[in-house]
Amino acid sequence: MSQTPRVQVLLEPDWASDSLAADVRRGLSTYPRTLPPRWLYDDRGSALFDEITRLPEYYPFTAERSILEAHADEIAAASGATSLIELGSGTSEKSRILLDAFTRTGQLTRFAPVDVAEGTLRQAADEIAARHPGVEVVAVVADFTLHLAHLPSGGRRMVAFLGGTIGNLYREERAAFLGALADVLEPGDSVLLGTDLVKSADRLIAAYDDAQGVTEEFIRNSLVVVNRELGADFDPAAFSYVPFWDPHMERMDLRLRAEVPQQVTIPGADLVLDLAMGEEIRIEISTKFRVSRIAEELEAAGLPVSRVWTDAAGDFALTLATRT
Ligand code: AVJ
Repeated sequence: MSQTPRVQVLLEPDWASDSLAADVRRGLSTYPRTLPPRWLYDDRGSALFDEITRLPEYYPFTAERSILEAHADEIAAASGATSLIELGSGTSEKSRILLDAFTRTGQLTRFAPVDVAEGTLRQAADEIAARHPGVEVVAVVADFTLHLAHLPSGGRRMVAFLGGTIGNLYREERAAFLGALADVLEPGDSVLLGTDLVKSADRLIAAYDDAQGVTEEFIRNSLVVVNRELGADFDPAAFSYVPFWDPHMERMDLRLRAEVPQQVTIPGADLVLDLAMGEEIRIEISTKFRVSRIAEELEAAGLPVSRVWTDAAGDFALTLATRT
C-alpha cells in the first residue's frame, strides 16, 4: 500500500507577484541591470528548460545523470542517509535514480522534494509514493532561499541540490546559502551538490547558444513573464540575445541587449525604464567551478567534503559534504 504524500505549503499566496515586483524594482533600477533567473520557470519556461536538457549541445544534464547512474549506490552508502531532501526538485527526474539506490539498501524512510512549482511537485510526489510504498513522501512547496529552516527534520538527512543550479548564484549568495544550509543541518547530515566544471569556452558557449535557439527563447521568455505578471510592455523582439563566457569570473553570462532606444513601463513594479540603444539586462549567470573551489566554498560554510564524483569526460561534478 502506498501512502498519500503529505504536502506542506510554506509559500504565502502572493509570494510570486510580491517577490517578482521587488526583484524587478531592485534588479532593473540599478546597474548592472539584472533579472533574477528564478523567474525563468513559468510553465513556458519550464517546458523550454526541459527542451534544453535534451539539446545535443547541453552536456550538463547528461553528464550529471551519468554520474548518478554510475555512483548512486556509493552515494547512498557514503551518506548513510535515511531521509533524502531535494531542493529545486522539479519533476524529480534525477532523484529517482538516487531513490532507487537508497531503496535498494533499505535505508530510506523519507523523501522530501522541495520546489516552488506546486503542480509539478504534487505530480512527482504522487508518482514516487506509488513507486516506493515504504517511503514517506513529504512534498514541500517552498522557496529554498527562504525556508531552509523548515525542511523536514529527523533521521540522518542528505540534501541534494543538483543540476548546477548553485551556479546561478553570485559568490556572496552561495556563501550565504551554504552557510544557512549548514546551520539547519545536524552533525552527520550531508549535502550532495551538483556543479558544472570549467571547460573550453567553445563548448560552454555552444551549450548556451544552441543551434536551434531554444536557450535564446528561454532567456527571452523572462520579459514575457514580467509583461504578464506585472503588466509591463517589454517588446521581446527589440532585444538581441547576448551569451558570453566571462573568463575572469569563470561564468556564462546571459544577457538581452536593447537594439533600439526604448521606454518600458512596468506598472506592477512602479517603474519606468529608459533603455539606451545597446543597454543590456543580465538575465542569468551560470558559474562553472573547479573541484578545489567547490571544496573551499563548502568547507568555509562548515561542510567538509567527503567524496567527489565526476563523469568520464570531467565535465560535471557531484560533491558530497558532511556537516561536522
Ligand atoms: C538550471 C541553472 C543549471 O545554468 O545551465 C540552461 C539553466 N540556462 N540554459 C544552467 C540554463 C540556460 C541551467 N541551470
